Amino acid sequence: MSAFTPTLASFSLAGKMAVITGGARGLGLAMSKALVLSGADLAIVDLNKPEATKQTKAIADMFQQKYPNQRVPRITAHYADVSSQSDVDASIAQVLVSHPKITNLVTCAGFCENSTAVDLPPDRVKRLLAVNVEGTYYYATRIAKYMMERGIAGNMVFIGSISGSIVNVPQPQALYNASKAAVRHLAASLAVEWASRGIRVNCLSPGYMLTKIAMSVRPFYLFITSSSLIRPIICFLILFLFLSNLPRR
Ligand SMILES: NC(=O)c1ccc[n+]([C@@H]2O[C@H](COP(=O)([O-])OP(=O)(O)OC[C@H]3O[C@@H](n4cnc5c(N)ncnc54)[C@H](O)[C@@H]3O)[C@@H](O)[C@H]2O)c1
Repeated sequence: MSAFTPTLASFSLAGKMAVITGGARGLGLAMSKALVLSGADLAIVDLNKPEATKQTKAIADMFQQKYPNQRVPRITAHYADVSSQSDVDASIAQVLVSHPKITNLVTCAGFCENSTAVDLPPDRVKRLLAVNVEGTYYYATRIAKYMMERGIAGNMVFIGSISGSIVNVPQPQALYNASKAAVRHLAASLAVEWASRGIRVNCLSPGYMLTKIAMSVRPFYLFITSSSLIRPIICFLILFLFLSNLPRR
């Protein structure tokens, strides 16, 4: 078997094992494919386990077609509602039954509420913050604890949003914007807290992407989204920059 060189050596994820939340569809699925094509083993953690399971096979087939003579990375699917601490713990335990270690984390599970602020009911407020903010917090802190206990120098990428830095118009989504601002600042804060433990944390803030989230909102949003073919490519290049072996300091 020839040496597996899917990408430049410093960007390669060969020998890494990545967990991605929300990897069953949309941006998470696209990132899952990219992680595997760069050589990482992968665990997809999602609310929709049947879809995640279906995608593990599709990703493995894609890899085999592209690199017929290489070992197909180990790809597994797991259930968790990331807003539940006990689900998060159970899913990590399950991932570790199938994989010897975890070196990388991408937190992509999240959703948007398009509602004027005065009309958003309290249960939807709680749910949005629980998934987007608490879900990122639980997953990151649990994996960081696991890495610290084993002295693993790991990399994490949180998926924020351009809406965490600016206010796009006309869609009303104040709480979503605030939740993504929280994700962005959580990444910065944890990066500082965990740097001395060898754990690197970054936040990637995508612009509009044509996924199921985007299709649930206004035609104007769709118009912007469909005109942005170049954005996913830029996002994935940045994702690999953050997850790869480039020097930490
Ligand atoms: N699509 C965009 O334009 C865009 C732009 C900026 C940021 N984002 C962010 O990117 C991420 C993915 O967005 P997308 O457009 O691919 O969404 P999507 O709805 O297509 O996919 C989201 C995935 O996350 C999973 N998920 C949702 N809630 C979950 C939970 N509580 N626990 C576990 N899994 C859960 C879903 O089952 C689904 O597989 C989100 O965090 C979103 O805020 C999206």
